[in-house]
Amino acid sequence: MAEPVAPITPAQVAATSAVASLATGDAATDSKAVESTAESTVESTTAEPATSSAETPAEVPAHRSHDPSNNAKRTDPFMFGQRFLTQEDNVFEYNAWDHVETDDAFKEYSEKQYELQRGSPVSDFDKSRFNGDPAKWWNLFYKNNTANFFKDRKWLQQEFPVLNEVCEPDAGPKTILEIGAGAGNTAFPILARNRNPHLRIHACDFSKTAVDVMRKDEAYDTKHMQADVWDVAGTGDESAPPGLGPASVDVAILVFIFSALSPSQWKQAIDNVARLVKPGGMVCFRDYGRGDLAQVRFRKGRYLEENFYIRGDGTRVYFFEKDELVKIWTGAIEKVEGAEGAEKVQTTVEADSEAAADPAALFTEEDAPFTLENMGVDRRLIVNRAMKLKMYRCWLQGRFRRK
Ligand SMILES: C[S@@+](CC[C@H](N)C(=O)[O-])C[C@H]1O[C@@H](n2cnc3c(N)ncnc32)[C@H](O)[C@@H]1O
Repeated sequence: MAEPVAPITPAQVAATSAVASLATGDAATDSKAVESTAESTVESTTAEPATSSAETPAEVPAHRSHDPSNNAKRTDPFMFGQRFLTQEDNVFEYNAWDHVETDDAFKEYSEKQYELQRGSPVSDFDKSRFNGDPAKWWNLFYKNNTANFFKDRKWLQQEFPVLNEVCEPDAGPKTILEIGAGAGNTAFPILARNRNPHLRIHACDFSKTAVDVMRKDEAYDTKHMQADVWDVAGTGDESAPPGLGPASVDVAILVFIFSALSPSQWKQAIDNVARLVKPGGMVCFRDYGRGDLAQVRFRKGRYLEENFYIRGDGTRVYFFEKDELVKIWTGAIEKVEGAEGAEKVQTTVEADSEAAADPAALFTEEDAPFTLENMGVDRRLIVNRAMKLKMYRCWLQGRFRRK
């Protein structure tokens, strides 16, 4: 999954180094090596999600192998999210492990980091600089980074089967709206696989520079795709993107964009999305989870609000708890049933009696425009085998359905 991997600042490198060292119990490591490790590891591993197993029906049941002579811990046919770390495993045998809970040392380190962050928040002057015109910072971001900054997501249709369905030759007229589309790394892979002559993809971003990048891409085919500048938290005339009216969208995609909004914008954004999506239509969602290494490694002067930060390049990022996210979109508390755990995403929803007191309660369950289809926590342990470093990543992924 190509989340933004903002260039790592020296402070972040130091933090990453500290986390990694602490998590492994290693002594001091060469900071230059850690820097390149952190960057390349984060970027390469975020290209793939790890939660597909819950929703990807494989034609042949996947078989898990642990034969060291035969590419151990692989599934055949290959499926994401199937490399489980057991007590017998050597953690440094592979680059990444799926569904790994953080260890106590990392938890303790995270809490200390949060205290440090809260103790040195962003100054009021900088708050208004960064919150006043967030698109400006994303424009700068796209000016400074090539379109290849986010990797293409070939896994998307595996993760969200509805994206396959709308691309079938006989699916009929279907409209996808991608919000915060960036350089088009989600829209273009969908377009490349599309076999539906009546598919339209609207790829919107509030960064004009990002939209220009998409429009200049050689794969930009106006028969099927339209890239536009649109702020998902826009109001009045700006509350819908060009060319899309109420209830015109079959599937909305939000991949690492909701975290870029300030909590004060969440409701407006959801109201706007709700107006555009047809009843029964789907929202496909992926974003940062609470406790992700990217959150823990923030140092002084980056804290805007609880779980909300400014990166070194001026872009903002929020880290969600699973229950909080479900509540924000559906007004409901998610309750995981049985012993299968969060990864099975078998959920029921119950009324929230304390809605008014909770900032995440933007809607009551009755007036919320969406219901929960599923929400999974995607936890990965990324390993630098050469340097014996461990890095914990956490993302949330799921779907909401328009009532
Ligand atoms: C982290 S990037 C993700 C880009 C893309 N979804 C991807 O994963 O490759 C976040 C994107 O959201 C866009 N964005 C942030 N706030 C937005 C808003 N209020 N409305 C529309 N786009 C926004 C940014 O310009 C940026 O392109």
